Amino acid sequence: MEKKLTYEFIKNNREIRTYLEFTDYAFAQMGYKEHGLRHSVFAAEIAGQILKYLGYSEKEQELAKIAAYMHDMGNMISKHDHDQSGAVMFLNVLDAEYYDEDAFTVASAIGCHEDKNMDPVSPVAAALVLGDKTDVHHERLRTEDIYNIDKHSKVIAACQKVDVVVCKEKSTIALWLTIDTSVCSVMDYFEIFLARTNYCKRASRILNCNFELYINKDKFL
Ligand SMILES: [Fe+2]
Ligand SMILES: [Fe+2]
Repeated sequence: MEKKLTYEFIKNNREIRTYLEFTDYAFAQMGYKEHGLRHSVFAAEIAGQILKYLGYSEKEQELAKIAAYMHDMGNMISKHDHDQSGAVMFLNVLDAEYYDEDAFTVASAIGCHEDKNMDPVSPVAAALVLGDKTDVHHERLRTEDIYNIDKHSKVIAACQKVDVVVCKEKSTIALWLTIDTSVCSVMDYFEIFLARTNYCKRASRILNCNFELYINKDKFL
């Protein structure tokens, strides 16, 4: 009997959960921001919701959730090229009976999620990128000492509220951020997250939308 790839199956897979937990443990040892189950579920939910609100099929929504849930598990091997190692790890977790177009759509989405100079390869990949790169909430930081941290962490520390708003009628995907400017300036946000912001623009274009960015209610993009 043909086996079907579902978000439930992936979330309940012990091997995948172990990879994600170990990734987060290793990153915690390095003082690096949260990359565990919280980030996985956030990215999965945002990716699925974006495709849902834009009218993509339930299958594409499900594949986007699956890909986004697992996108960072390659970090268990190394942060370097973790997108590609993660894609191969995903295929290794599956029995060959699961190998079909859906599995390869997920693998290619995971495999290109850090390739900021290229367009995401599919709507599923684009949704994954948006789910991943909009997760800038301060909850991901592991220290309360926000004055002695690097610039990247400072931007994360400053992000108090994060909302992703999709409007099908206007063809827009908007990231609404509330930033504590006593921790990091808006200029710092752009300096540190320019590549990330441009990647969100590329991903939105794949979904035939414009990407908008609001910081403290002011429109910057
Ligand atoms: Fe990643
Ligand atoms: Fe990520």
